[in-house]
This record gives sequence, C-alpha cells and structure tokens, in this order.
Amino acid sequence: MTDHLETLVDQMTLEEQVSLLAGEDLWSVNAIARLDVGKIRVTDGPNGARGGGDWFGGVTAAAFPVGIAMGATWNPDLAYEVGAALAQETKSKCAHVLLAPTINIHRSVTNGRNFECFAEDPELTAKLTVPYIRGLQDNGIAATPKHYAGNESEIQRTTMNSEIDERSLREVYLRPFEAAVKDANTWAMMSSYNRLNTQYTSENEWLLSDVLRDDWGYDGIVMSDWFGSHSTAETVNAGLDLEMPGPTRDRGDKLVAAVQEGKVAPDTVRTRALNMLHLMDRTGALTDKTPYNERSVDLPETRALIRRAGAEAAVLLKNENLLPLSTPSGKIAVIGPNAAEAQIMGGGSSYINAHYRVSPLQALQDRFGAENIVHAPGCQNHRWEPLFIGDVDVAYFDNATCAGDPVATETLGQTQTFWMPPIGEGKVNPTGFSARISWKYTATTTGMHRFGLHATGPSKLYVDGTLVVNAADNWTRGRTFFEEGCDEITADYALTAGETYAVTVEFAARKSAMLDLSAFRAGIGVPLGVEAIEQAVNAAKAADTAIIFAGRSGEWDTEGSDLQDIMLPGAQDALIAAVLAANPNTVVVLQTGGPVEMPWINEAKAVLQAWYPGQEAGNAICDVLFGDTEPGGRLPQTFPVKWQDNPTWSQDPEIYPGLDGKTRYEEGVFIGYRHYDRHGITPMFPFGHGLGYTSFALSDCHAEHNGDGTRVNARLTNTGKRQGTTVVQLYIGDTSASVPRPIKELKTFAKIALAPGETRDFTLDLSGRDFAFFDVDTGVWRVEEGEFEIHLGFSATDIACTTKITMQATTYAK
Ligand code: BGC
Repeated sequence: MTDHLETLVDQMTLEEQVSLLAGEDLWSVNAIARLDVGKIRVTDGPNGARGGGDWFGGVTAAAFPVGIAMGATWNPDLAYEVGAALAQETKSKCAHVLLAPTINIHRSVTNGRNFECFAEDPELTAKLTVPYIRGLQDNGIAATPKHYAGNESEIQRTTMNSEIDERSLREVYLRPFEAAVKDANTWAMMSSYNRLNTQYTSENEWLLSDVLRDDWGYDGIVMSDWFGSHSTAETVNAGLDLEMPGPTRDRGDKLVAAVQEGKVAPDTVRTRALNMLHLMDRTGALTDKTPYNERSVDLPETRALIRRAGAEAAVLLKNENLLPLSTPSGKIAVIGPNAAEAQIMGGGSSYINAHYRVSPLQALQDRFGAENIVHAPGCQNHRWEPLFIGDVDVAYFDNATCAGDPVATETLGQTQTFWMPPIGEGKVNPTGFSARISWKYTATTTGMHRFGLHATGPSKLYVDGTLVVNAADNWTRGRTFFEEGCDEITADYALTAGETYAVTVEFAARKSAMLDLSAFRAGIGVPLGVEAIEQAVNAAKAADTAIIFAGRSGEWDTEGSDLQDIMLPGAQDALIAAVLAANPNTVVVLQTGGPVEMPWINEAKAVLQAWYPGQEAGNAICDVLFGDTEPGGRLPQTFPVKWQDNPTWSQDPEIYPGLDGKTRYEEGVFIGYRHYDRHGITPMFPFGHGLGYTSFALSDCHAEHNGDGTRVNARLTNTGKRQGTTVVQLYIGDTSASVPRPIKELKTFAKIALAPGETRDFTLDLSGRDFAFFDVDTGVWRVEEGEFEIHLGFSATDIACTTKITMQATTYAK
C-alpha cells in the first residue's frame, strides 16, 4: 500500500476513519471534504450496471447474458470482453465498483439465484471469474465477487445457517473466491447474508481473516451484503471493512464508542479505513471530481458483443437433423409464452432497465416478414399477473390509513416499485406511511380479468371503488420482495372491452423483518383457456416449421425465492407435447435459469437451451436456429431426468433447503456431476454437454510430467462438414485415494475452433494442485502418490480418451 494513503489515514480523526466504514446511502460511502477524500459509488451487477436510480426504471443500461449463460460459454476470453464492457457501463453510471460477479455454486436445481451464478463446478466457475474480474479491473472498475460464502439457496437467506465441512468449502465453495483473490487480485468482495457454521459470514473471522487474508493474501475490502451486517465490534474485528448500505445501523457513533470502550482496537479501525482508501485509490474514487450524472450509453459494439455472447451461450441439447433451419418455404408457427415476451434476465438485485429487449417473435418477423409468421402463445407461464405499464399516480400519507391530505405525490411508469428511505420526498415515516396508487385501465377484451397484488404491507385493490383483491386482512410474509412481501393474492373480475376503469391500490407500510424496504406490485391479466393450446396446435399443423419458445422468466428465476419444483410452469408441458404431436418439424427453445424436467423429450427432435441472454435475446437465438452461428454453449449444470436425482434431494422437498434454519451440505464434495457419477445416475443431459453443427474426434492423448506439473497432449479433428468449435474438457480421477474422492473432477478445458477436416494437436497444462484434495487434519493440499486417470472428452459422460499418470511420492500443493 502506498505511503500517501498511510499519511492520509493518519491525518483522519477516529470519526473520519469510522465514516469510511459504512455507506452514506444505498450506493455510496461518505466523502471527507476536509481532506479532499472523494465519494466512492457502487452499483449492481452482474449482467449490467443498473446505477443508483429507481430499481425498475432509472437510466437505461445494456443488458448482458446472465451468469449461467456466461457459464455455458466456457469461454474465458469472452468473460474478459464482457468484464471490460461492463467497466464502461459502470462508468456511465458514475460508479467505481460493480457488485459482481456472483460466484456461488449451483448446488440445488431449485436455487432461485442459479441463473446469476456461473456453474455447478468450482473450476469452471473459477476460470470464468478470473477474466471477468480482470476485464473490469484492467479498466479501473473494482469487481466484487459475491456472496462469500455458502449462499447456495434463497429461502430464509438472511438467517439460514449453511453447515459445510471445511474440505467441501476449500475444494468447492471457496475455490472461485480463492481464484478471484490469487489469480485476479480482486479489489473488493461481498460477504453473504447467511451464517456459515453458526456465525454470520459478515462476522466470521475464520472466513474474513484467517482464510481470506492470511491464507490467500487478500489486500482488498470486504463489504456486507445489503443489511447483512448485524453487529459493531464483531464485524469490524472479524474483518468486514464496509457495512452496506447506509445510513449506518451498527457503525458511526456505535463504532466510535466501541473503540473508546476497548472493544475494537484503534489500529483495527485504521486498517479498515486504509483498506477503503486503497480501494478508492485503485478505482480513482479518491480524487474523482466528476459531477454525478448517470448516462444511458447504447453502443453498437456493445450490442454486437451481447448478441455474440448470447449465441455462444446457447446449448443445443438435442438435434435429430432438424437444426440449423433453412429459410422455410411456408409459414413459421411461433408458439409459446416466451415468443412475444423477451426473457432477457432474472429477477432481484441484478435487474436493470435494459436499453431494449428483442423478443424471438420480433427477431423472426424482422428476418422473414410478419406475413410469414403465425403467432400463437398457447398458454401462459407467469408467476404474477402482468404489470400495467403507463402513468401510475402515487399519493403518500404520513399515517397508516391513507387518511387526510397526501403529503407528497409522484408518478411511476408501472404498477410496481421499491421504496427505500427517503420516501415521499422524505416527508413520511418509512415504516408507518401509507400510499394510494391509482391508474386508469382500458380493457381490450370483454370477460373475466385476473387482478393480482402482492406487497410488503397490508394492501387492497379496488376497481371503480369496488374491493377486488384483499391482500390486507390475512397478510403474512411470503416468497416475494426478498421474503419481505406476501405471496400474490388474485381475484377475478369482469371487464368490458373499450371501457376505462379506475384502479386503486391502498398500501400500508410495516417495519420489515430484515431489509428496511417497502414494495408493491399489482397486475391485470386475461387468463388463457385450453382453446389457446388448440389454436397453437392448429397453427403448427398449418406451418412448415414450428418453434416453441417456452421456459420461465425472472419472476421465477429470481433472487429472494427458491423454486418449488423444476417443472415448466403453467400448461407448457401439455402445450409442447400437443405441438410436437401436431408437427414433427418443431424446435423447442427453452429459456430458464437452470434445469427443467422434460416429459416430452423423446418426442422432440431439437431442443435448444437459450437461458436469459440479455437485450439481444431474440436475435441471438435466431442466429443459432438458422445457422448464422453455431450453438456455442455447453451445460454448466447437469440436467437431471427428474428433480429427485439431484444431490440435494435427500433434504427435499419437505424440508428444503434445510431443517431448523440449517442448510446441511451433507453431500460434501459430491455435488453436480460428481454425484451422478458416484451413484451411477444417468442424467437427461450431462454437465458439459452441448451439440454443434459439426462433429469432432479426440485421439492420441497422453500425459507426461513437466517440471512441477503435468502436460497433457492430444489431437482434435473436425470430422464434419462445417467450421465449428468444441469444448475439450479434462477431468482427473484419483484411482488410489486414501479419502473418498469424486470419480472425476473437471480441472481444465479448451475451446477450440477448427475448419472442416482440420486436425490440431494441443496441450493442456496441469499443476500439482489439480491432483490434490484438501487434507483438513493438516490443513494442506495433498497430492497422494499413486495412479491418476486423466480423461479428455466432450461432457462428463462423453469421455473420448483416458490416459494415466503416476505420482511417485506424496507431495503438497499451494
Ligand atoms: C443482493 C446483492 C446485491 C445487493 C445490492 C442484495 O439483495 O444479495 O447481490 O448486490 O442486494 O442490491
């Protein structure tokens, strides 16, 4: 650390040092004018830079593929490019720190936040984490890998205790964070909400100091997740530098008092403040005088990068000579709930106000002309009734019952919002206010409409003065708004086409359990009946080709709420089965943040998994469907035949994700493909799987000792007729281990492009650590003497060649 920062920190009073250790508001830390210390700003992350504005509105931003889509690219160079582009996005929002990447592990298939994380495998996660961070930091923006550690489920996440043994932590859950520190030199990190082996991670000294700083040599800062810091002396002493967000709850005067009472050493505060100054220095925030002015920057090169990345993430799960599609001679039937609605990202804090969203329907119409497309949604897949988009007036009352005159008003652009202090121009008590929210709705169809409402406090919805939805009388916390909101209450009410109705919601705030926020969401929909499936079937029958766009949305794949199963929501399975029976030339395109069961898989000729690929969704998907580019993705997560096959099922579903507030990581290191290998369970689609539009063969693989490491040589040939890319995956198995070890573990991979008929010899290098397990008794990475198998292949179950290497003696790796 440079001398001028040491001098600066020593010029500060204790109060000034303390002021750097907590947020000033939601997204920034206090500046110190007396010493010309600037203000550092942070923003979410990870699939774009949202900025500090309104959660759902705000200045528009570029929407990149979500984490699992980036995981599916298996492309570290692309992760670097995305990181670098995100640095520019972060700058456009006047921030210095991006709260990203999310590098928790896909442990269970039902984790609501799977979509945001890269993979079920720690090495794949680590190999994408490192370049993503470098891309950001090479351009002056700090990364914040999160959530450290053990945040692999969302239910009760602010209190849940993750029980994880040390070996599993070191080999699996901490591994990406270790790489973020040692290989990418990350400047910041975020602790998680949960407890780890009883202690909150934000006050876990073993995690924040012993492992992170002493073992790994970390020199950056650790910030809490939002409202995830619960104490004063404990967090500061354990190693948590920054409490977020502000204004502080546990620091400020309380920390000054803790120092005066001898509970925190002055030198500890000095160290934390120095860490903050170091971060501010590294990002330029220390001297940043640019006026705060968030900008919307929609660049052609960013559009192109997002489109390319979206196509490279798409995984072709199955293809029986149907894809790529040639330009159809007849009409294309475009079916499914995700056709007209562009599903570009997941839900929760990673949500951004995208510059635009290209739906598959729009992309197909642009490509072939609207006259050649027949669209039939077939069914719905939403979790909540659709939002109303338009002017929505809010009147704020400084009482709980909307009594008297409002003290402030504002206009929203849609029927949902988050409220965080200051609320209603700061004129209302954040935990005791009420709001009357009104808008005009003109019905476009006659018949039963469904009204839905959920909120963080008791609420009622009226249509022309008639109470329609009562989400007040039996209000209880459910699975919405980070578990601060009730589940959606719906009610049906008949409307007439052409009539305009006055819709009003009355909302009363309450003190939230953990997060200090209020929020509401209301929606109006027209339920689709079985005749919608018949219309889709008829459209498919009459068409040359049918494409079904099915899946979930950010309402399901969202922070703050786990999935209740992995079936496609609504009537989608019935729709897909019916359309497949009607037209064999049907492609199924899935957009989900993780695996789903596919009861119709045997009838489907072609299935493409497209995730949430960002603002260019429709274009990226069509590029793959019509062969402009190949499907570049490989599964970063095993797709089981059924949920019961997943390693966490032993704890599911009755007590998912745990019992008595504990998530027990009982399967240890045997997660993902390691579990399927161990129990001989055949997955529907294995980890690493993905087809292209050409074929490859691997041969001639052999391994040799190479200094301290091992070098593996092999030959790859493109045996097909098209140029193409494949991902060669290298797994290691310790055949004579003295402890239970997975049959094989991914250690490295290479994404290689070849022309038709081309052959290339390539090498993959392995370090001692790649052969090691973590020996908890002695606290070292142990490489045991004996024989190891090295497998090269195209997925966890498609191993093309295996070679062996023998370690002559037991050694220790770093
Ligand atoms: C999330 C973090 C996020 C933070 C700020 C929390 O709810 O867990 O990932 O960065 O909010 O929005």
